[in-house]
Amino acid sequence: MKRGEWAVLALIALMVGGVVTRNMLVTDGAGSGSTKDRGIPFYTTASPELARAGSDLVRQNQCRQCHSLWSVRDMMQAVPSPPLDGIGSLRDEAWLYQYFSASNPQSILPSRLKPEYRMPSYKDLPEADRRTLARYVASLKVQDWYLEETRKTEFEKLTGKDYKP
Ligand code: HEC
Repeated sequence: MKRGEWAVLALIALMVGGVVTRNMLVTDGAGSGSTKDRGIPFYTTASPELARAGSDLVRQNQCRQCHSLWSVRDMMQAVPSPPLDGIGSLRDEAWLYQYFSASNPQSILPSRLKPEYRMPSYKDLPEADRRTLARYVASLKVQDWYLEETRKTEFEKLTGKDYKP
């Protein structure tokens, strides 16, 4: 090989190496403050049993008609209600149990929506189901780096106003 060809090869090797090391180093987004490429921030702390029981109750009670969960919702309705993803980092189990058990949930959390789109009362569900639902929803957590974003979404859905931290 001629000297020039070696130089070209060396250059290519350098470029390839550069890309590889950059991809190996940058695992959490394009620098500080960026939330891109960090993966999905939502997770659950539920045991497999609780996750199964909770998901069953969410399905039976059609929570997804109005709420997204795991970023999925039924597309039939577009009610501007807060996503359930990450809500367990904003509300605890005791609060959720009270909320699901209230005959008028809007006395706990005011609504800006027409009555038919508001959070329904689940007080007539068996107590065990309300407890399971509260425990499951409380287990729907968000990573710290996405907490503020989750708070913003919740606030804006609930109030229709811009969120100012
Ligand atoms: C008819 C639509 C509808 C259905 C069905 C529904 N929700 Fe809601 N939910 C809402 C709305 C809208 C709000 C916001 C408060 C309001 O406007 O009443 C809300 C609020 C909430 C909140 C409080 C969110 C916050 O910001 O703290 C939780 C938790 C919740 N719902 C869970 C559930 C669960 C679990 C189910 C199923 C068992 C369910 N919802 C079914 C519409 C609904």
